Order: sequence, then structure tokens, then C-alpha cells
Amino acid sequence: MAVQVGILGATGAVGQRFIQLLEDHPTFEIAALTASESSAGQTYREAAKWRVETQIPEDVAAMEVGATTPEDVPDDIDLLFSSLPSGVASEVEPDFLEAGYVVSSNSSNDRMADDVPLTIPEINPDHLDLIEVQRDNRGWDGALIKNPNCSTITMVPTLAALDEFGLERADVTTLQAVSGAGYSGVTSMEIIDNAIPHIGGEESKMETESRKLLGEFDGAELSHHDATVNASCNRIPTLDGHLESLFVDLADDPSPEAVREAMREYPGADLPSAPDQLIHVFGEDDPDRPQPRLDRSRAEGMQISAGGIEPTDSGIKYNCLAHNTIRGAAGASLLNGELLADEGWI
Ligand SMILES: NC(=O)c1ccc[n+]([C@@H]2O[C@H](COP(=O)([O-])OP(=O)(O)OC[C@H]3O[C@@H](n4cnc5c(N)ncnc54)[C@H](OP(=O)(O)O)[C@@H]3O)[C@@H](O)[C@H]2O)c1
Repeated sequence: MAVQVGILGATGAVGQRFIQLLEDHPTFEIAALTASESSAGQTYREAAKWRVETQIPEDVAAMEVGATTPEDVPDDIDLLFSSLPSGVASEVEPDFLEAGYVVSSNSSNDRMADDVPLTIPEINPDHLDLIEVQRDNRGWDGALIKNPNCSTITMVPTLAALDEFGLERADVTTLQAVSGAGYSGVTSMEIIDNAIPHIGGEESKMETESRKLLGEFDGAELSHHDATVNASCNRIPTLDGHLESLFVDLADDPSPEAVREAMREYPGADLPSAPDQLIHVFGEDDPDRPQPRLDRSRAEGMQISAGGIEPTDSGIKYNCLAHNTIRGAAGASLLNGELLADEGWI
């Protein structure tokens, strides 16, 4: 029987990606859509200014959008995806959790809470068991699981693959697409013929979330990885796809070929939306890859790419790339939902 899912903030940029990714999903079926009071009561076609390159699925277009309150969502929903602005999410997500819903959320609130799993299924699926700690602490029957920020999720799979060589420090500079700021986030007058060397709050998210994701959970407490992570974040005029340049210090001083192999061989997850190979690695013959336009849509936007792998005095340098609104947002939450289903939490 299909898993009944709802989307909170279904009319927004990430909400639309959820709808696109859930079309023809093997086990999940959309049964509820919510947005702000101004959209509630309209059909989805009326409420959403659809900006995704595929058409709105007809059955979704005709659905009524509800208000974002537990009273407006059917009781038999198994899983809610949340793509609300974080200020709104921090107010309303607890209402859904107290009402017993399981919520897989994109929003940045509570990502760093000690009892909230911040999860990438291929990297730290065991952190999901923090849900038991969360339920004890908060006294609710629901469960809250978060995916990381889009720039964090782009680099963390590569760092996880390098951890076997003694990960000590990562310095990263990002070149981030405009879609990461949402539709009205950066105006054309600001970004065309330009680059903006600041994205508010982004650098600390990369520095802290990555260490939580790479940390260890002992069944009661989560310890964060002790590597140093420094980030410098920039907005550039690409539409989708965050490109990141890293200098990584590794205790074991591996060869570039050993690094390529570790990234290529890093295991994927056996989930419907997971790519067969988590990281596509470009070799020495393709020093100018990955590139946003050419590589962001690999494996329907769910695969990370890495290339330009070269030695430095203290480790390795390379570039990596991911589709920020798919792997970095809706696809990440969807994959976490598939993990929740696979592990019997819903
Ligand atoms: N864009 C990205 O690449 C990206 C990546 C990772 C994470 N995120 C995070 O994902 C979340 C959504 O981002 P987005 O770009 O999709 O934002 P967005 O386009 O502005 O969409 C926001 C959604 O929330 C609804 N909403 C706004 N205020 C509300 C309220 N007071 N009560 C109930 N619903 C309300 C909107 O409904 P109406 O249409 O009715 O206003 C809309 O459905 C944010 O927390 C963002 O930081 C985004």
C-alpha cells in the first residue's frame, strides 16, 4: 500500500521540486498540500506560480491547498515533507510533531539540535536512531528529521570518503547558484555581470553541519567530528548547481589515485531515489569538470560530482558539485523520507 505523504510549503521553489520528484514515485503518494493563508482554499494550479521545467501533474494541479496547521492535514498522512521558511517552520513544525506526525524537513531551524537527526542516507543513516532520544526529550509521538544546507550536502559526501585517510581540516570556497536564495532572493540587477562574496549565515552552516554529519552516534549521544572546517561562500550567476573548491588536510597523505578510488567506491544507499554511484569522479583527462551546466543533472540531480583532484603539501585539493534544489533540498528530504520508510519509522 502506498505511503501517504504531505508537503508543507508546497507552492514554493523547494515544494515544487518535491511535487516533481514525487511524480510516479514507487511507494509515496501525495495526499496533502499546504501553504500560507493567502494560498489556502485555492487549487494547487491557482496557488502555485509553477516554475519547474516539467508540467504540474494533473492530479496535483486539481488538489486543494490547505493552511499549514495540523487541523488542515488528514490524520492518515504517514509522512510530511517540510519546505517552509525557517522562521515559519520553527513556529509550526512543533505543532505537527506534537500531533504525532513524522516530518522530514529542509528548513534550517533545529538542524544543530542535539536530539534531531541531521541525515544524508548514504553517510550517517545510523543517526536516525536519535529519534528515540528526541521522543524521550520532547514528549511527542512525532519525529523530526532534517537534511543539511545545500552547500553542506555538496561537499560532505566527498569528505566522508576521505575520512579513512585521517581528515584533519577542510577549507572550502563555494560558487553558489542563484536558485539557492529562492525565487526572489537575489535580483537580476544584483547578480548579472557580478559575483556576491557573502551569503548570510551560510559559512557557519557549512562549518557546523558538516561536523555533525560526520560525527558518531553511540546510541545515546552524538559526538561531532573534530576536523576543522572553514568556509567562504559566494553567489554567482548560475541558475542551479553549487560548485565548491576544497583544500583538505589528510594525516595519511594519500595519492590522488587513492583519493579518486575512495570517492568512486564510496557506497550508495539502496533507496528508490538514491543514485547507483554516490560520487561521479572525473579523472586527469577532464581537469575542467565538474561544471554546473554540464554536471548538475547527473542521476536526475541526485549524484555528487568531483574532479580536479591534485596533491598539496598537506593533503589534497579538488572541486565538487551538486544540484542545489534537488540533491541539496527536495531530493535530500525525499531520500530521508525513503530511509524512514526503509527502517520502519513510518
Ligand atoms: N531554494 C533552495 O535551494 C533551498 C535549498 C535548501 C533549503 N532551502 C530551504 O527550504 C525552505 C523553502 O525554501 P523555498 O526556496 O522553497 O522558499 P519559497 O519559495 O519562499 O516557498 C516558501 C513556502 O512556504 C509557504 N509559506 C510562507 N509563509 C508561510 C506561512 N506564514 N505559513 C505557512 N506557509 C508559508 C509559501 O506559501 P505561499 O506560496 O502561500 O506564500 C511557500 O509554499 C527554506 O527554509 C529554505 O531555506 C531552500
